[in-house]
Amino acid sequence: MTKLFKKLPTHIAIIMDGNGRWATKRGMPRNYGHKEGVNAIERTIEACLKYNIKYCTFFAFSTENWKRSKEEIDGIFQLLREYISINDNIFLEKEVKLKHIGVIEPFPDDLKSALVNIENKTEKFDKLTITFALNYGGRDEIIRGVNTLLQSGQKQIDENQFSSILDTKDLPDPDFIIRTSGEQRVSNFMLYQMAYSEFYFPKICWPSFNEKHFIKSLQVFEKRKRRYGGV
Ligand code: IPE
Ligand code: IPE
Ligand code: MG
Repeated sequence: MTKLFKKLPTHIAIIMDGNGRWATKRGMPRNYGHKEGVNAIERTIEACLKYNIKYCTFFAFSTENWKRSKEEIDGIFQLLREYISINDNIFLEKEVKLKHIGVIEPFPDDLKSALVNIENKTEKFDKLTITFALNYGGRDEIIRGVNTLLQSGQKQIDENQFSSILDTKDLPDPDFIIRTSGEQRVSNFMLYQMAYSEFYFPKICWPSFNEKHFIKSLQVFEKRKRRYGGV
């Protein structure tokens, strides 16, 4: 394939927002938006494979999303359960590694085992790593890490050691954070890791996100000049 982009982000992290509004606008229940949101995840994983992205993280459920109705939360869990449990899922079929960050402890047992199962089965794959952020919050992640350090009796650490106690220890920091739906906030996502991330806020709601928007995003990233404090 000819080289389409001068530079690519190694790690794209996506705050998938606007599922509810997308559905409401169509006179449908919010969970219909989440269902279509899963199709957008699938399209994005295909696009990552096609354009050679090594890491893509999806913010799927935040530590604050427990404030939603039980019906909506159960609906999200059910979609996740179905998505990772179907036999011909993209992870096994296309050899994509699936991981999660966040605390899955409070999730239903069968969902937890389905996750662990697919994570184990795809552990050895290395061309693309997909990470689902589940019951994830940046503050929660930092505080859990600090507690781990306190328990281990450490008195002083450096940045590398701190990174290694976060859920993202095996991931490079996100180069590019995309939040759909037009909202321009981080909502407790990857607070420590985003120190030098580039941001992009397309207006499109997540269920409509497709390859065309993905390419547009990569073009936006391509034009960014990252300076890391230099000149
Ligand atoms: C993002 O879409 C999906 C999750 C947070 C699980 P929303 O459900 O937040 O959709 P809006 O923002 O209400 O439109
Ligand atoms: C952020 O979206 C969380 C996820 C995408 C999972 P929210 O819709 O929960 O964020 P706020 O409430 O608009 O900040
Ligand atoms: Mg939202």
